[in-house]
Amino acid sequence: MLIAQISDTHIKPEGRLAYRRVDTALFLARCVEHVRGLTPAPDVVLVTGDLVDAGLEEEYVRLRRLLAPLPMPVYVIPGNHDARAPLRNVFGADGYFPREGEYLQYAIEDHPVRLIGLDTLVPGQPGGRLGPERLAWLEARLGEAPERPTLVFMHHPPFKTGIEGMDVQWLEDGEALGSVIRRHAQVEGVTCGHVHRAIHARWCGTVVTTAPSSAHQVDLDLRQPGALNWVMEPPACLLHLWRPGVGLVTHTSHIGDFPGPYPFYGPDGRLID
Ligand SMILES: [Fe+2]
Ligand SMILES: [Fe+2]
Repeated sequence: MLIAQISDTHIKPEGRLAYRRVDTALFLARCVEHVRGLTPAPDVVLVTGDLVDAGLEEEYVRLRRLLAPLPMPVYVIPGNHDARAPLRNVFGADGYFPREGEYLQYAIEDHPVRLIGLDTLVPGQPGGRLGPERLAWLEARLGEAPERPTLVFMHHPPFKTGIEGMDVQWLEDGEALGSVIRRHAQVEGVTCGHVHRAIHARWCGTVVTTAPSSAHQVDLDLRQPGALNWVMEPPACLLHLWRPGVGLVTHTSHIGDFPGPYPFYGPDGRLID
């Protein structure tokens, strides 16, 4: 099973640029073309929050139009820039959001890897939190299928990345989440967005990853104290490859025109020197 993860698409209303500079819709259109061109084709696409920039319904309508060319199922979860009501209005017809309750978290059972999306949004604040209700829901879902390999996806990372400006807006009850995850060895990984960079860490008995943005990236500033800036490093998506007996392996797939690929070996079978 191949799972593509797109993150932090930050779609703005028509004619508006993010931070007055980034045409996030154009970058998402390129990302969608990139995913459509992959061989083998991903079985599903996850979009891990900051779907739009200001939580406006017209932004979700635009996002939906931009994602529409993807032929595989697409599952979205909210980030701190999102708003649940307009997100539900525009994407609810896809049928995977819970019919009742406030939170937009769900389990997808249709694939070899069980996919569990968590809703870490706290309206009006950049950092995330799950709280007892959403954590209890996760505990119950994981308890249902202890033998099924599972990927948990959410917006806010539960670990400190070393980028101070992002670490102050992490998942504030990550420790409570960790104690749930630790009890369920079928969790092959936890994958997040929010940090606009590919980062990996060992965490609570599993592996946790954050995805790059389809548009602008967060500047890699590991100074303490550091500054929080964005940078136009190459956009990318993640490809999570799961195979029976192997498990989950995560690749970063950069979006753009790059020279190559070039062969290592010549027609004579010898390494080109
Ligand atoms: Fe973001
Ligand atoms: Fe975010």
